[in-house]
Amino acid sequence: MTRCTFYKLFILLCLSVAIICCLNGYFIHYLQSTTSQRELVESRKHGPRPYASRTTNLSHNPLAEKNNAHLVQAAILHKAASLKPVFRNKNPIYFKLKQPILDTFRLKPYNSSTIWRTVNAWPKRNEVIPALELRLGSVLAALQREPIRGVKNSRRGTQLKLVLELPGPQHVLFKPRWYQREEIINGTVYSGKDRHNAEIVSFHLAVILNLRSAPIAVGRSISLREHLPLVDDELRQTMLVIDNRQCVYGSCHYCRQSEPVCDDPITGTLEGAVLYTIPGKLVKYRSPWQRTYDTERKAEWETNGGYCTLVRRKLATETLLDLIDAAVFDFLIQNGDRHHYETRDERLLLLDNGKGFGNPFVDHLDILAPLYQCCMIRRTTWMRLTTFSGGAMTELLREIDRLDALQPLLTEAHYLALERRLLYVFSTVELCRQKHGNKLFK
Ligand SMILES: *[C@@H]1O[C@H](CO)[C@@H](O)[C@H](O)[C@H]1NC(C)=O
Ligand SMILES: *[C@@H]1O[C@H](CO)[C@@H](O)[C@H](O)[C@H]1NC(C)=O
Ligand SMILES: *[C@@H]1O[C@H](CO)[C@@H](O)[C@H](O)[C@H]1NC(C)=O
Repeated sequence: MTRCTFYKLFILLCLSVAIICCLNGYFIHYLQSTTSQRELVESRKHGPRPYASRTTNLSHNPLAEKNNAHLVQAAILHKAASLKPVFRNKNPIYFKLKQPILDTFRLKPYNSSTIWRTVNAWPKRNEVIPALELRLGSVLAALQREPIRGVKNSRRGTQLKLVLELPGPQHVLFKPRWYQREEIINGTVYSGKDRHNAEIVSFHLAVILNLRSAPIAVGRSISLREHLPLVDDELRQTMLVIDNRQCVYGSCHYCRQSEPVCDDPITGTLEGAVLYTIPGKLVKYRSPWQRTYDTERKAEWETNGGYCTLVRRKLATETLLDLIDAAVFDFLIQNGDRHHYETRDERLLLLDNGKGFGNPFVDHLDILAPLYQCCMIRRTTWMRLTTFSGGAMTELLREIDRLDALQPLLTEAHYLALERRLLYVFSTVELCRQKHGNKLFK
């Protein structure tokens, strides 16, 4: 080989390498841009992105800034469009868990003389039921079918609730229906009256997410007229007949004679959620992320991006992690009304979920503030959330909901909203992970 041919070959080789490198770079760039565009389109198809901002600078992490709520929220929405496939596909673990969870919800026979002793022995700290407890189906059946022996007004909370006495005696709460399923609640995140279906679906969702600290809830229709003889004197004074229908308005902060609930003119019954009363001493605390309930005035957590530092000084880590679990749960159901939280043995209970599922077309991202301000979450909660990725969460929820006497419990739009919001939880944690690495998992 002459020296000249050698140089020619060498130059040719260099040129080829250079061309291949350029092409590779170009294709990688092309692939990245098309995938992210495709994901953006996909995410648009899956629902409205009301806060999405094109102007967000994504080369830095807004979690690092003070007073950054709108930036953080825009970043969460943006990130959701480019989540890794692991967050969009079903997790193999789901297929092993689905049937065992569903089986716990199937109605089963029960023994009236022992059922309440059984369920009242279950609560341990804030866990109301044991994991994968097959006798749950017996408790659900008892809550739905045991005869009513007495009816009175509940003193708890600000909205109309009845206390039903079942044989035992076992007292349970009854939250009546105010809205049709397809009704959309407008206004603030805390607008409207309690949704009885929200209480029932919240219980189902809590069990799916292994947050077994929501009260056992089941749908039941009762006849006010038929039970009139069992109503105590105080409640009876708030009962009236309108257009031949038996109605009640109760006595509570928001109870008005002009706003009663009534037996349905066709079925003669009133739908509601029956809620198991959790035994033991419950202690109530003001939530650090309480709203001002005044559109003119913002709370400190709404204006101070570093708010979590203040909370961490005051609260035990366990309590803070409970509040973050609650924030994720409340964000999924869109309950923005947890102004106080109740604990049992110092651990948080998920009581009062009736403000959930008001508007399936709106996602109030600020309910996630405890998560994105503190950037920490229990590893177990995170594992559980990712177990139900890719549509699994609502697939199972729908099957559980179908077992309830009042099914369908939610409209299609609400199930879609739940999946959309789950992606936002994933993208929030991913943003935190970018900033803090895996030490965000506790
Ligand atoms: C985006 O943020 C980075 C880091 O803060 C900064 O260097 C860059 O100039 C910003 N880009 C734009 C377009 O604002
Ligand atoms: C229900 O439980 C009681 C008390 O343990 C028992 O005496 C009774 O036989 C049981 N009833 C049925 C139908 O199993
Ligand atoms: C909320 O707004 C929607 C759309 O504007 C309307 O259809 C619906 O009736 C409103 N809901 C209530 C409870 O007023």
